[in-house]
This record gives sequence, C-alpha cells and structure tokens, in this order.
Amino acid sequence: MQHGSEWINVMNRTNKMGLFVTGTDTDVGKSVASSWLLHQLRGYYWKPVQSGLQGETDRQMVMRLSGLPGDHFLQERYSLQLPRSPHEAARKEGVTIQLTDFCMPSTPAPLVVEGAGGVMVPLNEHHLMVDLMVHLQLPVVLVCRTALGTINHTLLSLQALRHRGLTVVGVILNGEGDEENLQAIKNYGNVKILAHIPKLSPLDQSNLARIPPLCNDWPQCLSLT
Ligand SMILES: Nc1ncnc2c1ncn2[C@@H]1O[C@H](COP(=O)(O)OP(=O)(O)OP(=O)(O)O)[C@@H](O)[C@H]1O
Ligand SMILES: [Mg+2]
Repeated sequence: MQHGSEWINVMNRTNKMGLFVTGTDTDVGKSVASSWLLHQLRGYYWKPVQSGLQGETDRQMVMRLSGLPGDHFLQERYSLQLPRSPHEAARKEGVTIQLTDFCMPSTPAPLVVEGAGGVMVPLNEHHLMVDLMVHLQLPVVLVCRTALGTINHTLLSLQALRHRGLTVVGVILNGEGDEENLQAIKNYGNVKILAHIPKLSPLDQSNLARIPPLCNDWPQCLSLT
C-alpha cells in the first residue's frame, strides 16, 4: 500500500494521471498486469475498446483481481461482440471507431487504460492502437511474456512506441521466471522492469497482491526522462 500511495503522489506531482497498458500480443497478460497496477495505485480502470463479450469482460476480470470497488471502473467506449481486431469487429457491427471518440476521463486517482491486443492493432482503416496512446497522451507500460521469442517481440514493440514519441514507463513480465530474458529485455530495450508476475495458481486477488514491484526507485518510476 505504501508503494501505491508513493506512486500516486508522484503521479499527482508530475501531473500524469494515467498509464496506458499495452502488450506484445493479445492474451499476453495486460488485464492481469492492469489488476496488479490498479492494486498498487488504488487507481481507476478503463478499457476503451472491448472486443469479445462472451464470458467475463476485461473490466469484470480486473474488478475481480484488483479487489477495488465498482466505482473504480469506467464504462467502455466501445463494447463489440466479436473477439476480433477492433477494426474488424466494429466494421461487422456497422460502427466506425474514431480517435476523437476518446477523451481522457478525469479520475481522483491514476487511471489505468488497457488497450486491445498489441501496439499495432488497427482501430479503423487509418489508425492503430498506438495512435490512441498518442491521442490520449499517456505514458505506456508494456506487458510481455517471459518465454522464448519475447526478446524480439518486446524490442520491436518498444521501438514502435518510442518512434511515436511515447514515454515507456517500463515493462511488466508475465509468466514463468526466465532471468536471461529479463536481463536481455532490460539491457537491449533500455527499459525498467516494473514487475515480474509469475504464473499464479490460483490466479486470484491475494496471490496477485503479493507480487512486489521490482524497481528500487519505484516512486520515481513514472518520472519522465
Ligand atoms: N500470471 C498469470 N498466472 C496465471 N494465469 C495467467 C497469468 N497471466 C495470464 N493468465 C491467464 O491468461 C489469460 C490471458 O491473460 P489476460 O486476460 O491478462 O491477457 P490480455 O493481454 O489482457 O488479453 P486481451 O488481449 O484479451 O485483453 C487470462 O485469462 C488468465 O487466465
Ligand atoms: Mg485484457
């Protein structure tokens, strides 16, 4: 809890009231990492575009895993039926997603915004998820796997984010421990590792709450370089 309040103070001080959580892929653990961040920050959560409404939505999952009350969860801007890329799910529902449809909500504590899929996922015929990050002007947290292949996916994603002038706050690794991959991402990506979330069994609120931040300078993690 202490870490969380320090983070909130830093965010308030630096006037950065949000984070955009993206990933190297779909299903990489963005909602799990968002739940962890939310718990640390006592923050608010927003999934601007949810595609796929079968079963638990991301908002419902993060509500369950973070343990925060319902008023910490904002309504999606788009809730699309099909579990497909947003541009395609929207097109099939006769909807066109526009960047101007999204405005940064004002919240009393940091807002954790979860993207759909990865960095270069299309929202419409012209715009990608990275354009939404630029539009919302948020610093970014990248969630990546620990398994073989992650170095390539993570470095490519970092390059795409930085190319657009986005600030990468750090990376959250999700999956079984792999110290070599962690070190490689840190060194070649020149990026902070904010946390490593191992495979949790069960995946629940109390196990997730036990995962410590990995930054020694955790309160400074959100400062722009
Ligand atoms: N650390 C973990 N321990 C146990 N299970 C996990 C862990 N991380 C992810 N999972 C499992 O993998 C699934 C995918 O994770 P998650 O929903 O967080 O991915 P995502 O990147 O948010 O996916 P999407 O692209 O659909 O938003 C979860 O439903 C969960 O069951
Ligand atoms: Mg998710």
